[in-house]
Amino acid sequence: MKFSVIEKLLFLNALVARVGATPTVSSRISVSVNPKVQFQEIDGFGASQAFQRAEDIFGKYGLPVVNQTLVLNLLYDENFGAGFTILRNGIGSSNTSDSNFMNSIEPINPGGPNAKPEYVWDHYDSGQFPLAQQAYSRGLQTLYADAWSAPGYMKTDDDNDNGGYLCGVTNESCTTGNWMQAYANYLVQYARFYKESGVEITHLGFLNEPQFAATYASMLSNGTQAADFIRVLAKTVRKSGLNLKINCCDSIGWDDQEAMMAGLKAGPDPAINYLDVVTGHGYDSPPIYPLSTNKKTWLTEWADLTGDFTPYTFYKNGGPGEGLTWANHIQVALRDAGTSGFLYWIGAENSTTNSALINLINNEVIPSKRFWAFTQFSKFVRPGARRIEAVSSHANLTVSSFKNHNGRIATQLLNQGDLDVEVNVQVTGLKSGLSVEPYITNNDYDLELLAPIVSASGGSFQVKVPPRSMVTYLFS
Ligand SMILES: *[C@@H]1O[C@H](CO)[C@@H](O)[C@H](O)[C@H]1NC(C)=O
Ligand SMILES: *[C@@H]1O[C@H](CO)[C@@H](O)[C@H](O)[C@H]1NC(C)=O
Ligand SMILES: *[C@@H]1O[C@H](CO)[C@@H](O)[C@H](O)[C@H]1NC(C)=O
Ligand SMILES: *[C@@H]1O[C@H](CO)[C@@H](O)[C@H](O)[C@H]1NC(C)=O
Ligand SMILES: *[C@@H]1O[C@H](CO)[C@@H](O)[C@H](O)[C@H]1NC(C)=O
Ligand SMILES: *[C@@H]1O[C@H](CO)[C@@H](O)[C@H](O)[C@H]1NC(C)=O
Repeated sequence: MKFSVIEKLLFLNALVARVGATPTVSSRISVSVNPKVQFQEIDGFGASQAFQRAEDIFGKYGLPVVNQTLVLNLLYDENFGAGFTILRNGIGSSNTSDSNFMNSIEPINPGGPNAKPEYVWDHYDSGQFPLAQQAYSRGLQTLYADAWSAPGYMKTDDDNDNGGYLCGVTNESCTTGNWMQAYANYLVQYARFYKESGVEITHLGFLNEPQFAATYASMLSNGTQAADFIRVLAKTVRKSGLNLKINCCDSIGWDDQEAMMAGLKAGPDPAINYLDVVTGHGYDSPPIYPLSTNKKTWLTEWADLTGDFTPYTFYKNGGPGEGLTWANHIQVALRDAGTSGFLYWIGAENSTTNSALINLINNEVIPSKRFWAFTQFSKFVRPGARRIEAVSSHANLTVSSFKNHNGRIATQLLNQGDLDVEVNVQVTGLKSGLSVEPYITNNDYDLELLAPIVSASGGSFQVKVPPRSMVTYLFS
């Protein structure tokens, strides 16, 4: 992973030699970046460790302490690793911790929606509580706690699993009564337990993929029904005195989330006004356009779930788990869908699938090329950054750019073609003689710092980007 300066120079020379020797060099591509034209604010990047994946990090299947620290540093330390600033917790709704279930703070039905609830707090939360402490100590800024379901007894199917609706939302009544207020109290109590134990939950959500009656914790809702509950939750949060923002609705695909917008915006008291972030997943349909809202949007879950294991492949054939595929997904979501956040499904877990960014296999820690693709963004595009205008003259070389609070600009170039490209990067207002730092990830390199480039007069710098590679350029 680490190379000496000499090796880096050899690498650069090899690139130059390769370009010189290849008559098929593509025509010069120009990229222009204009920091004066600004778009959405960035909140950050991250993943979840729900369904006991947090316990994987703490050694459930092995993993010596030194490697537990390694994976925490890779995920959350800005200097050492990705510097993820968003963690998505699963608010448990199960009455046990069997299998990979997330246990609830109210496992037992109190007897009705108006009965006094018996909350229990284990300071563990399926490993997510100690994980949040570790993440915050390394620079986490946003803890998004999201429930996959209300406890079974609050729902029409009287089951934690297999969908069902929250009792009391439009057209869904139960003989046990209306549980909307009880569910709002319950979610706020979860956040209160965290706060009383010294960990701040910043954002609260109450749905996960409400289009899908999964065999695990799940709850159905359309936009109208979500809006019913948001109005109750917002009042409850306000009365609690907690500083909690509300997110909705983590639909299974971007189109599904768009379909919920009408319900969220309807009526004399539109629920959208109580939301901070509109959230959607990428599975059924990817985030390739802005949702119809002025609120911030986050892509809160997406992954390659096909079961192949391609941790070392940045590019082979554009497969669903490859690093370049994810670099492209992130760039498109930020640039074309205008999202302010982007989260993979799982950060790290003991498995040999692509559903995490880092594979923990007993004692080992294996960061995938997907992880390095995320890192090319997350390490250099920090919370509070603004996306800025960036245009490429050729479809094979895609671009995005962001200006951080401290003035530092991070520009990501993805060479999606199979030829070296020479690029003239023109930056409005860039002074000459400044150092530009390139970081590369491809099949051969993981976030490798290359030799700096110096900007020329007229505010431009010249770079060569190898085929099927991502390079992030940093300058101030
Ligand atoms: C626990 O939850 C399951 C699944 O929803 C349910 O079938 C079962 O009755 C519950 N057990 C208790 C003791 O509430
Ligand atoms: C659904 O609820 C609305 C408003 O409460 C009511 O007008 C309508 O008749 C209900 N539809 C069904 C199928 O229950
Ligand atoms: C949501 O479902 C309810 C009940 O079926 C229906 O009354 C309502 O119109 C639906 N809302 C939207 C926005 O489709
Ligand atoms: C954890 O990883 C090891 C090695 O791949 C495997 O044998 C074991 O089954 C895994 N456990 C789970 C629950 O995935
Ligand atoms: C930690 O993980 C690394 C990388 O997978 C592995 O080489 C090393 O053996 C592990 N350390 C221990 C103490 O098991
Ligand atoms: C663009 O990429 C395609 C696919 O790799 C390649 O065939 C084509 O030559 C590239 N064009 C240029 C101008 O780089």
